[in-house]
Amino acid sequence: MKTISLKNLSELPEAAKQILSFAGDKKIFCFYGELGAGKTTLIKTICKELGVTDAGSSPTFSLVNEYKIHSSPMSPSTREKKEEVIFHFDLYRLKNENEIFDIGYEDYIFSNNYCFIEWPEKIEHLLPHDHIKVRIEVKDNQRIISLS
Ligand SMILES: Nc1ncnc2c1ncn2[C@@H]1O[C@H](COP(=O)(O)OP(=O)(O)O)[C@@H](O)[C@H]1O
Ligand SMILES: [Mg+2]
Repeated sequence: MKTISLKNLSELPEAAKQILSFAGDKKIFCFYGELGAGKTTLIKTICKELGVTDAGSSPTFSLVNEYKIHSSPMSPSTREKKEEVIFHFDLYRLKNENEIFDIGYEDYIFSNNYCFIEWPEKIEHLLPHDHIKVRIEVKDNQRIISLS
């Protein structure tokens, strides 16, 4: 368990780094928090830390967005890696569990790519056991992020 307090948006990149380091090699992240808590904003900041350059311009369609990680062409160690992707789920509008299987949930979740899930409550018992929980609370204009 780890807690990070944020006073403003400018502290988000540092928080994103800490979250990634807390996670180690785990790649499934569940984001809990009410509407407006800052889940989407935090996910996009983490994506940026991971090398995504186009998260802002992706269309927000119903359940899952896909972002490409652009690794630096100057780095020999990353050159051979095939292009990586990150999956960002927003399950706010999910009506039932069948709907998540309709979009091929298992293919995403067992892909070994990063998966960031908003509103994981909707599929609570379908989540892999070794996911990272990220809770965001808003208190007196501060964001409190708890990791477990
Ligand atoms: N750490 C933060 N500090 C201040 N404002 C934030 C922070 N994170 C998000 N916000 C603001 O809160 C609003 C809602 O954020 P959003 O990420 O869409 O929430 P959610 O996805 O949880 O509904 C946005 O206007 C965003 O700029
Ligand atoms: Mg959101």
